Order: sequence, then C-alpha cells, then structure tokens
Amino acid sequence: MANTKTVTFKDNQTGKTWDYPVMSGSVGPDVVDIRKFYADTDMFTYDPGFTSTGSCESKITFIDGDKGVLLHRGYPIEDLAENCNFEEVAYLMLNGELPNAAEKEKFERDITYHTMLHEQVHSFYSGFRRDAHPMAVMCGVAGALSAFYHDSLDITNPEHRKISSFRLIAKMPTIAAWAYKYSLGQPFIYPRNDLGYAENFLYMMFATPCEDYEVNPILAKAMDRILILHADHEQNASTSTVRLAGSSGANPFACIAAGIASLWGPAHGGANEAVLNMLKEIGTKDRIPEFVKRAKDKNDSFRLMGFGHRVYKNYDPRARIMARTCSEVLKELNIKDNPLLDIAMELERIALEDEYFIEKKLYPNVDFYSGIIFQAMGIPVTMFTALFALARTTGWIAQWNEMIEDPQQKIGRPRQLYTGQPKREFVGLKKRK
Ligand code: ACO
Repeated sequence: MANTKTVTFKDNQTGKTWDYPVMSGSVGPDVVDIRKFYADTDMFTYDPGFTSTGSCESKITFIDGDKGVLLHRGYPIEDLAENCNFEEVAYLMLNGELPNAAEKEKFERDITYHTMLHEQVHSFYSGFRRDAHPMAVMCGVAGALSAFYHDSLDITNPEHRKISSFRLIAKMPTIAAWAYKYSLGQPFIYPRNDLGYAENFLYMMFATPCEDYEVNPILAKAMDRILILHADHEQNASTSTVRLAGSSGANPFACIAAGIASLWGPAHGGANEAVLNMLKEIGTKDRIPEFVKRAKDKNDSFRLMGFGHRVYKNYDPRARIMARTCSEVLKELNIKDNPLLDIAMELERIALEDEYFIEKKLYPNVDFYSGIIFQAMGIPVTMFTALFALARTTGWIAQWNEMIEDPQQKIGRPRQLYTGQPKREFVGLKKRK
C-alpha cells in the first residue's frame, strides 16, 4: 500500500532529483517503489542476490530475521507446529485462513484422493539409473506430470489451478518415496487412503508387499512437524525460481520442477545433506575446533553447514522446534548415544560462543538438526533434500497461485550491469590469432 512518504534520488553530477513513493506492508520494512526508475533516470538499480529487492507483494509468509520470527498468514510457526497437522497448514497457505472441521476433512479428502500417480509414470522411473539422486528423479517426474494432466493446465482458470495444486501437493510424497524404492530395487508401494499425509509418506518409504507395516505414530507426528517447518519461507531462491518460471505463463508442474532444481543446491535445500556429511567428516568432538578454524579462514571455502541464513540474523525459530523434535525422535527410538548429535550439540555450543559467529550473527538454521532426525528414522542422506522439496511444494504452489492472481504480475525480467566487450569488428576465422 502506498503511504505519503517518498524517497528522493539525486544525481550528484547534474543535481537532478527524482521522488519515489514508499509503500508500507502490514508489518516489516517499507519498500521504495522504483518501477519507474529506469524510465525516469535511464539507470538500473544493481542488487546481485536481491538482498535489498522486494520482487512481489505477498500475504503468505512474514519473516523478521533480526527477531527470529516466522509467521504464516499471521500465525507464528511455533503455534502451527504445535497445534496443526501439515494438511491444515497447507490449507492455510493456499486459502489464507485455517480450515474449520468440515473444511479440514474435505481438504484432507481432496489431497488423499490425488496421491496416486498415473500408472505410466512407472516407466519414467525405470529410465533412471538405480543410483540416480532422488532430487534428479523428483525434478524429472514432477516436470513430466505436465504431460499427464492436460485437463488442468489452463493457468487462467481458478478451478484448473486448484486441481493442479491438489495434484502437486498430493503426489509429491509418492514421487519421493518411489524414488527411494527405485534406488533400493524394491517394489513401489501405493498410497493408502486411510493414512494421513506424513504417515502415508513413511508408509510408502518403508513398507514392503511382504508383510504388514505399522507406521510409528510418534515418528509420523515428528515427520508431520518437519513438513510444517519446511512448508514455506517467503521469497527464497527456490520460491523465487518458481515465481520467475511461472511469470512466463509456464504450467505449475514445470514451475515446481524448476523449484526442485533450485532447492537442490547445498546453499539452500541441500544443506541438511551437507550438515550430516560435515558431522561425519568431523567424526569426533576433539576435531571441532579444527573445523571451526577452517570455517573462519577467509582462504578456505569451507563453511559450517547448517549455520547462517540470508534473512535470520538470530536463532532460526524452526531450528528450536527441530532440536526439540530431534530429542523426541531419539527418545522414541531409544537411541541414547548418537555420536553425530553429540558433535552437533558441541559444535553449536562452540560456534555460539565464538566471536566470528557472534559478530556475523551466524546461528543454527532449520537444517542443522533435521539430518540427525532423518538419519535416526532410517531415511538415507540422499533423500533429505527430497523431503524438503515435498514439504516446500505447498509453499511454492501457494506462492505460484498468489502470483497468477496478482494484477501487478508481469513476466520477471531483471536487467544487468554489462561489463563485457563493447561493440567491435568481427574477425574472420583465417585472420584470428
Ligand atoms: N560458516 C562460516 N562463515 C559463514 C557461514 C558459515 N556457514 N555463513 C556465512 N558466513 C560468513 C561469510 O563468509 C561472510 O563473511 P564475510 O562478511 O567476512 O565475507 C558472512 O558470513 C556473510 O555471509 P554471506 O555468504 O554473504 O551471507 P548470505 O546471506 O549470502 O548467505 C547462506 C547465507 C548461503 C545460508 C550462508 O550462511 C551459508 O552458506 N550457510 C551454510 C549453508 C546452509 O546452511 N544453508 C542453509 C540455508 S537455510 C535453507 O536454505 C533452508
């Protein structure tokens, strides 16, 4: 919303000035509306990594990184993680309000009845090597869904968007669990309509056709909470990727495949995998100082994985809930001695007392403890990011819908500071040295 404040830009050489309106959100910093900046000044703004750029208006998620606050549709993440199941949070993301009992039941039913994959999707899996990374499989299969659901690809039709949203949220656990089953060479396990979202995922991961499999309710609850903690996080790299892909009018399945690709990187969703690998590499508590020293060394590219965040300059509120969930899971599984957890806790203690980390405001992020929980549950390291992707699909699809409905929406097209060769004479092959 525009307020009466303006910001003046001044060209110090010519003395020319331009005024730009300031817009205020409901909470959070104001933004300067520079949409006319290029037309007025013949200059672009320069902001690699978009550290000072608001790319859209959104009503879904609010983060106060300095205070360590995360709200979805106004509700603190702590309250949602404590009192809701994942389906309720998904409904909230998509619709703006928490569902009442009847709405919750209907939504759960809608999601449940879309969990099966088209039978022909089987053959996509057999095209992958058995050792394919699950994120490669997820990227490929999620994108391929656009070839199966032509009945819901009109992005201007709200009903089509709703069905595609249900399909994506519902099918992602099946896609992820099947990627795991395929890597093992085990038969795919079909979803069951009597199970909840998180429970169904664990069932498809760990059941086999040979015997009955009961999902441990404590682990299902923990998984449900982990999914809630990862459901959305404002305009991060993968969400911005989904929005940018969607801004051209691409179909939602293709956009989510783009989001999965972006999430895969170790600086983003791949960090939970990287944390566990790092803890294993550290190996014993006495080696922690050596790794902390490396993380602080400007000439060493090593970073403490699971530490630091673009937005949080305080403890990531999700990390606190994750640490608690970690203790619950280890207790339930009767794991008393977990060397990786011991190293993680000691590393956290040392880093939080270290001047370098204090000064740079580097705190544990959501990924710091999630890997330990997943490992205790028997989920292999390569599936960690896949799990993140299935949870984040809800946020991606909510953000994608919001973008399509936004009357201000335009195709995303950033500009650049060009530092390459200016126009020059072409040199024929024979004359080139
Ligand atoms: N270990 C050591 N030093 C670090 C770390 C770290 N984990 N993170 C940042 N720093 C340092 C940087 O070297 C930099 O120092 P400098 O100012 O002296 O150059 C300073 O802190 C600021 O770091 P930037 O990289 O500029 O901060 P940015 O906001 O771009 O990066 C990021 C955030 C990518 C998350 C970074 O902290 C990082 O690489 N962390 C490790 C990977 C990780 O855990 N990612 C998960 C993010 S959460 C998520 O995606 C769910």
